Amino acid sequence: MSTNASSSNEAWGSRIGLILAMAGNAVGLGNFLRFPRQAAANGGGSFMVPYFIALLVIGIPLMWIEWGIGRNGGRYRKGHFPGMLAAIWKHPAAKYVGVVGMVIPLSVMIYYTYIESWTAGFALFSLTKDYWGHTTQEGMVGYLRSFQGIRAEGAPVYHGSWTPYLFYAGTLGINIWVLSRGISGGIEKLAKIGMPILFFFAVILMGVVLFTPEQVGIGTSPISDGLAFLYTPDLSKLGSAGVWLAAAGQIFFTLSVGMGSLQAYASYLSTKDDIALNGLATAATNETVEVILGGSIAIPAAVTFFGVSGAMAIANGGSYDLGFATMPVVFQQIDKTLPIGSLLGFMWFGLLFFAGITSSVSMLTPIVAFFREEFGIKRETVAWTLGAFCFVFGMMHVHWLQHGLLDEWDYWAGTFGLVLVAIIETVIFMWVFKPDQAWKSLHMGADIQIPKFFKFVMTYITPLFLFVLLGWWGTTEAIPILFNERSAGGSTPVPDASWPYVAASRSMLLLFGVAFAVLIRMAWKRNKYDDRQGFVELDTNRAEG
Ligand code: ALA
Repeated sequence: MSTNASSSNEAWGSRIGLILAMAGNAVGLGNFLRFPRQAAANGGGSFMVPYFIALLVIGIPLMWIEWGIGRNGGRYRKGHFPGMLAAIWKHPAAKYVGVVGMVIPLSVMIYYTYIESWTAGFALFSLTKDYWGHTTQEGMVGYLRSFQGIRAEGAPVYHGSWTPYLFYAGTLGINIWVLSRGISGGIEKLAKIGMPILFFFAVILMGVVLFTPEQVGIGTSPISDGLAFLYTPDLSKLGSAGVWLAAAGQIFFTLSVGMGSLQAYASYLSTKDDIALNGLATAATNETVEVILGGSIAIPAAVTFFGVSGAMAIANGGSYDLGFATMPVVFQQIDKTLPIGSLLGFMWFGLLFFAGITSSVSMLTPIVAFFREEFGIKRETVAWTLGAFCFVFGMMHVHWLQHGLLDEWDYWAGTFGLVLVAIIETVIFMWVFKPDQAWKSLHMGADIQIPKFFKFVMTYITPLFLFVLLGWWGTTEAIPILFNERSAGGSTPVPDASWPYVAASRSMLLLFGVAFAVLIRMAWKRNKYDDRQGFVELDTNRAEG
């Protein structure tokens, strides 16, 4: 693997390390928590058809566009979205348009690590059997709400109020420590350890779930019903806008496209490295993990113990109940016949933790790159300062979870924002750079020839699909959420008591945008960049492009 050490002392150490890190970036909580929930809530088989269409039309093309835009940025040592855009579009506006690609990874990182910290907590609670005895769905939901600090008035307390803060601080600390060690010394090493563990735990859990005998007598279904529910295609729902939007949203989230992080990882590659095959391999790995492993654990388990309608009801209940309440009930049931429930719980939450952390470390990578490249600040200093910043803003999510702050950010940054980034990068890569140039760029050092058909898809179909999606999303979701006809996390409006918190959380996202715009302006002045000239290519040994 060729390096670009001349420009930043940062590069991937090996191809396998790069693939594992990229796959680790994509494979996350989305594969094991979000996918089963989305699939179950949208009718199983009827979700899978738009899901695969979205994968083909937006998922895989965006994967290549992001690897392409990122690697091209790396030629000028730009590991951040504003710089990557400015490297292609030689216009003063390019860098400011890129602000959205900074706000999104930063804000998603803040709430994502909070959910990741629950997995660390529940892994420990599984080993210590802390939740043992809560053998019903309702009981376990009560336990989860106590941990989240949002239990109902008068409901029992199972944890000290400091518990979620402690796990959040610890999880964030590990993330920052990995980041502070750099690309090959931190992120790549984590992926090499975390990904095999994740696969190992997932395969064992899938085996246990698939071979769990039918739970006769408690209103449940055989495992085959769970699998049939997900894997039997149902074309009847193709006319439902909601199912299409949910499927496209899942493709974005699960592949990490539109987050600014895949681009940042790709910026540490040279033009001699392959991105065509590696990009495809990353998408394929993510999809295998999501559909085969992610699809064969939580849904079949929930169907086996609660029936198809029970599983759908749980999925529609709370965002995280399937993973954090239903699965512990299942493990306790299994424990009655085979005393490995506690170990299974540890494996499930351990698997989620590794899936989460290999994704979350990627989210601050573009921000770290920005401060290092543009202001020359040391990596460790940037990482730990950002960690402190995330902790302060994360407190807001921990403390006011009941006011829907997390749902707000998950909607504006983690769903809607991803489409915005995707539109910007597709237009700039395929239309400003031009299709021929983009195609040539994708094939530098390539190990495969991407089928020509995708050049047409990426030039016309992907942007068209994205604009339709944005318009559809805008009218059916974003505007109603903006004007509080419904909340970001449910179908009813935000209650009056929570409205100031929601307004504050939105203002914070805007504030992040303004702050980055100012920082970008300072950086451009400081480094005397000429927007119309572009940047100087740093590695003169690279292939011509
Ligand atoms: N792609 C990451 C996930 O699925 C963010 O969780």
